[in-house]
Amino acid sequence: MPQIRSEILYNQAQQDDYYKIALTCSQAFGAAVPGQFATLKIGERMDPLLRRPFSIHRLLHENGVVTGMEILYRVVGNFTGQLAEMKPSETIDLLGPLGHGFSLPAENATPVLAAGGIGVAPLVFLAESLNAAGIRMNHTAVFLGGRSDADILCIDDFSRLGMTVRVATEDGSAGEKGLVTAPLEAYLAEHRPGIIYACGPHGMLEAVYALAARHGIPCEVSIETVMACGLGICMGCAVKTADHPEGYRHICKDGPVFEASRVFF
Ligand SMILES: Cc1cc2nc3c(=O)[nH]c(=O)nc-3n(C[C@H](O)[C@H](O)[C@H](O)COP(=O)(O)OP(=O)(O)OC[C@H]3O[C@@H](n4cnc5c(N)ncnc54)[C@H](O)[C@@H]3O)c2cc1C
Ligand code: FES
Repeated sequence: MPQIRSEILYNQAQQDDYYKIALTCSQAFGAAVPGQFATLKIGERMDPLLRRPFSIHRLLHENGVVTGMEILYRVVGNFTGQLAEMKPSETIDLLGPLGHGFSLPAENATPVLAAGGIGVAPLVFLAESLNAAGIRMNHTAVFLGGRSDADILCIDDFSRLGMTVRVATEDGSAGEKGLVTAPLEAYLAEHRPGIIYACGPHGMLEAVYALAARHGIPCEVSIETVMACGLGICMGCAVKTADHPEGYRHICKDGPVFEASRVFF
């Protein structure tokens, strides 16, 4: 996978601690699938030493050719703090696309998407890819959860595609008060989607999978973890799964997207 010196096209503050950055990228991203990610490093800086992984939020096209990619990120520490300070036309080291992404369903399937907080980042790319693949998006729903309204992002991106958007926040400042699995559970009592795609904190993924399993619906989850090499070399990102002789898989290489029934949560 190519490693390039990428130019920052824009780096815009969203709400609260969230930012959206657009970067030029290699042609390899033309074949990227939703759920795949890239790792970033700022110049020759040694702090932080390790590259940081970020999902592809959206691909940017010009005349049908991929010319850039967007990353939606939350400032949580050293690297993301430095990233938020960077300006257009500055450069950053970009490696990708990496990992194994979501599988696209059959054309007549009715997927459901569920995101917890910044877990929404890869789901916009996924929704746009489902739309491009001919899925009837007005038959699909997305469930967005977060601690408060500051953590609810991308509503317009999903609405624009005709999707039903349901929101839940723990403090009740937007949508239904409580966890995102509550409106999802109510939805599953009345609808039978062909597949559920989810990205978010570990506990949320576990709860979404429990619902999917109870209703007999296939489910794919994108697992985010702290990564070191991001390339399957250091063994720093192991997840216990049912389908591997050694019992473990690398989230960076075999994931981050896994069929949920294969993961031991
Ligand atoms: C495959 C993958 C895709 C990702 N996609 C995105 C994305 O699209 N947008 C985004 O904002 N973030 C994403 N992340 C998380 C992102 O990599 C981390 O937020 C980032 O590395 C933090 O770096 P930092 O130096 O700013 O924070 P650090 O100083 O390294 O950490 C600050 C705090 O955040 C915690 N933390 C760091 N990484 C993670 C993590 N992966 N999960 C939970 N807690 C963590 C640390 O334990 C610490 O408490 C993704 C992670 C993975 C593995
Ligand atoms: S982060 Fe090194 S093996 Fe996955």
